[in-house]
Amino acid sequence: MQFRLQAMPDDGPVRLPDPLGFGRVFTRRTLEQRYETSGGWGEAVIGPAGRIALDAAANIFHSGQGIFEGTKAYLRPDGRVQLFRPDANAARFNASAVRLAMPTLDPTDFVDAIDTIVSLERDWVPPGEGASLYIRPFLIGTEATLEVRASRAFLFSILLSPAGPYFASGFQPVGIRVEEHHVRAAPGGTGAAKTIGNYAASLFATEAARVDGYQQVLWLDAVERRFVEEAGSMNIAFVYGGSEIVTPALSGSILPGITRDSVLRMAPDLGHPVREALLDASEVLRDIASGRISEVFCMGTAAVVVPVGRIGRHGKDTVVGAGEAGPVTRKLYAALTDIQYGRTADPYGWTRIVDPEAALSRCYA
Ligand code: COI
Repeated sequence: MQFRLQAMPDDGPVRLPDPLGFGRVFTRRTLEQRYETSGGWGEAVIGPAGRIALDAAANIFHSGQGIFEGTKAYLRPDGRVQLFRPDANAARFNASAVRLAMPTLDPTDFVDAIDTIVSLERDWVPPGEGASLYIRPFLIGTEATLEVRASRAFLFSILLSPAGPYFASGFQPVGIRVEEHHVRAAPGGTGAAKTIGNYAASLFATEAARVDGYQQVLWLDAVERRFVEEAGSMNIAFVYGGSEIVTPALSGSILPGITRDSVLRMAPDLGHPVREALLDASEVLRDIASGRISEVFCMGTAAVVVPVGRIGRHGKDTVVGAGEAGPVTRKLYAALTDIQYGRTADPYGWTRIVDPEAALSRCYA
C-alpha cells in the first residue's frame, strides 16, 4: 500500500518533556484514511497532526461507533526501532470493527500504516526503561446523521504518543477493588471488542475506586457477579503454589489482550504452567489470604505487567504476599520487556524492526 506524504512545517528538533507521562504528548504527524460505503477506502495520508473537523451530527458523537487499538514501538540497544506483534493488533482491530458494524482494513495495510508513520517519526521513540512510542490506531463513524444505524462514512487514524510507564509509579504494586455494583461488559455485549464505549462504561466505578485509594477496579462477571473478569483496562492473572499462572478464560466479555496472550505463551518456556479457568472472586481472596496464591498481576499493552499488592472488598483489604512484586511477576516482566526492547533474541517471531528506507519507498508526495 502507498501513503501520500504531506509537506510538514519545520518545527525544529524533537524535545520531550520529563517526565513524559502517558498519552499526553503527541508527535507532529498523523495518518488519516477515510472510508465511504459507496467507494470503499480512500487515500491514506500522512500529514500534520492536529484537529479533526467533524460535523456535530457525526455518528461517533451520537451512536458511538468507535474502536481503537494500542501497540508500541521500542528503541532497541542498537538504535533501531521495533514494533511488537502489530499483526495481532490488526486482527483484533478487525474483530472489533466487525462487532461494531464498521469496515475492516487489510491487515497488511494496517501494519504497513503503523510501520510507515513510526519510521517517519522514529526520532520521537523515547529512550529509557518503561518508555516507548505508544501507537493509537482508531476508527470512528463520521456520517452526519442522528438516525441510529451504522455510519456510511468512517475515519481511520493513527496517533503516536511518546510515553513513559502507564502508572507513574512504574513497576510498583497497585491496589485494586472488587466492583460489586457495576459491570464492564455482559455476555453478548461488546466486552471482547476494543470499543470506546467499554472504556466509558468503566469510568464511574474506576473514579469511585480512585477516591478510595485504589488504582483500578476488579470487574466481576455481569450475570452472577461472582467470577473475576478483568482488572481496570487490563487482564489479570494469579500465581498458585508459587509457579502456576491462572487467568480468567476468555468468556466473551473479556478483552483478548495481546500482552495476556504473550504471557500465556512465554510462561511455560520460563517453567510456569498456565491455566485458563473460571475464577470465583471469593475463592481467589481466600487463596490469597491462605498463601495458596502468592502473586497477582495485571497485563496490558500500556502497563505491560504490573504487580497487584492488595485487593479491596467490602471495606477490607487482602494483601497479596508481602504486598510487593513477587518473583514470577518480575520474571515475566523482564522476559517480555527484554523481547519488546530487543535486548534479547525473539524466539516467537513477535518483533518487527521498522525499515525507514522501505517506509519511504511506500510514500509519494
Ligand atoms: C492497555 O493497553 O492495557 C489498555 O487497554 C489501556 C489503554 C486503553 C490506555
